[in-house]
Amino acid sequence: MKGIVMNILAEMVETQLGLEEWNAVLDEADESGIYTSTALYDDVRLLKLVGVISTRNDIPANDLVFAFGQYMFPAFYHRYPELIDGHANMLDFLESLDDVIHVEVVKLYPGAITPGFEPDRRSSKVLHLKYESDRNLCRLAEGLIDGAAKHFDHNYTLVHEPCAHRGADHCGILVSLE
Ligand code: HEM
Ligand SMILES: [Zn+2]
Repeated sequence: MKGIVMNILAEMVETQLGLEEWNAVLDEADESGIYTSTALYDDVRLLKLVGVISTRNDIPANDLVFAFGQYMFPAFYHRYPELIDGHANMLDFLESLDDVIHVEVVKLYPGAITPGFEPDRRSSKVLHLKYESDRNLCRLAEGLIDGAAKHFDHNYTLVHEPCAHRGADHCGILVSLE
């Protein structure tokens, strides 16, 4: 994962759990905490940090990854508002993930490995995304979508079926605006 992702995790823990806790997490995970945004870091290191935060704070890893996605959306918006402004609503934005957003991300962060989000727009209020990634971070995707919904001020429902964590070869994420 790119250093930006590590840095946003650091920012979340510092803000929500405090600098002291972040330092303790770094100690336990054997990490320095210094990450260059555009450099690539082994996913194992991010997952280790998540594991340590989860255990130390008694937060199930699944919930933590979702919360990380929720935190990540506004953090991305703060850095790259131009990628997100200009979409009338969340579904238009999500529909552009594969062809626009993550394409721009790879230009900004050469070597970034972004997931696949094949869109299938079923109506003005319903979008299906086929999520494919060897990282199987569909909970992160759910958190990001939740963060996006807050940003665009939508109430929505989400159905996640099938799921790679339950043996499927991809995840299906159906987002419906209320
Ligand atoms: C709600 C919208 C979004 C969703 C659902 C989403 C989903 C994801 C997921 C699940 C990953 C983890 C990698 C994987 O699964 O293989 C990822 C990676 C990433 N995304 Fe997105 N993303 C969204 C919007 C954005 C935006 C707006 C930006 C930046 C402006 C962004 C930048 C990145 C970056 C930098 C990575 C890391 C890639 C790497 O380190 O190799 N994403 N995204
Ligand atoms: Zn899934």
